[in-house]
Amino acid sequence: MPSLLHRPRRLRRTENLRALVRETRLTPDDFILPLFACAGTKVRREIQSMPGVHNLSVDEIAKEAAAARDIGVKGVILFGLPEAKDEIATGAYAADGIVQQAVRAIRKSAPDLVIMADTCLCEYTSHGHCGVVRDGDVINDESLELLARTAVSQAEAGADVVAPSAMMDGQVGAIREALDGAGFEQVAIMAYAVKYASAFYGPFREAADSAPAFGDRRAYQMDSANEREALREAELDYLEGADVLMVKPATVYLDILKMLREQFDLPLAAYHVSGEYAMIKAAAQNGWIDEQRAMMETLTSIKRAGADIILTYYAREAIKLLRSK
Ligand code: PBG
Repeated sequence: MPSLLHRPRRLRRTENLRALVRETRLTPDDFILPLFACAGTKVRREIQSMPGVHNLSVDEIAKEAAAARDIGVKGVILFGLPEAKDEIATGAYAADGIVQQAVRAIRKSAPDLVIMADTCLCEYTSHGHCGVVRDGDVINDESLELLARTAVSQAEAGADVVAPSAMMDGQVGAIREALDGAGFEQVAIMAYAVKYASAFYGPFREAADSAPAFGDRRAYQMDSANEREALREAELDYLEGADVLMVKPATVYLDILKMLREQFDLPLAAYHVSGEYAMIKAAAQNGWIDEQRAMMETLTSIKRAGADIILTYYAREAIKLLRSK
């Protein structure tokens, strides 16, 4: 028998030994729960491709947020399904828009919860694109104005954080300037800095009714093949005043997350998106995978790669599991 000096297995022998040498630890503070606000009252409509996730009317979203807070969720990010859509996304920046109403209601039902608002136009435009469309093109600088207006109205409603996700050039700078101009210098910007054009947003587009009516988002969201460009996108948002940088989706872009962790000192967020959630759910429902273990392994990988904040539809389940240990 050869004598081995190094035997890594020694420290894997018992659960307590493993806990002592564990390098990455998820905590209940790590998660943000996405919620979808819709019109009506007492509406709780499950999204078919996202079991456990619902479209919620304002009264219901206020309850859902308070219940999440009671479990230990620290923050939510809000998306809206307006009653009407038009060419210029009026519903996104209306003072009584669906997200603005939801922010106010949650501020009452769960005052200490961090309230983030997704700042985009695609849920509110009749064509489903993230900006103003002319002759089949998304016009960058005109879209900036509407995005800035949206962010200010979300801040007026009481959002702590706005999260621009339209991937328009200069959106962070335009929003920072508009927020400061309106007296909201304390409202933070979590920039979807590196957002790839991804098949994994499929279920979200059902949830938010935001699939583009023509074409796709490849003329503004990033090409999944690009890494150096991610650095450039993050650098621009950093220079424009982002408070938090986000990578999205999470698990198929862990290399990008890790690169940003090494290059930037800002807090880093990762969005574990609808398709990433739906894949685990679907496999679990078929009995092909252990849902809890797959969930925790996935979330751990995102944290290990460098995320400080994880946006996930699994926020509640993960926190419950962590607290039960
Ligand atoms: C809005 C937006 C999208 C997501 C977050 N913000 C959809 C998209 O860009 O098509 C996706 C979130 C998810 O899939 O969970 N632009």
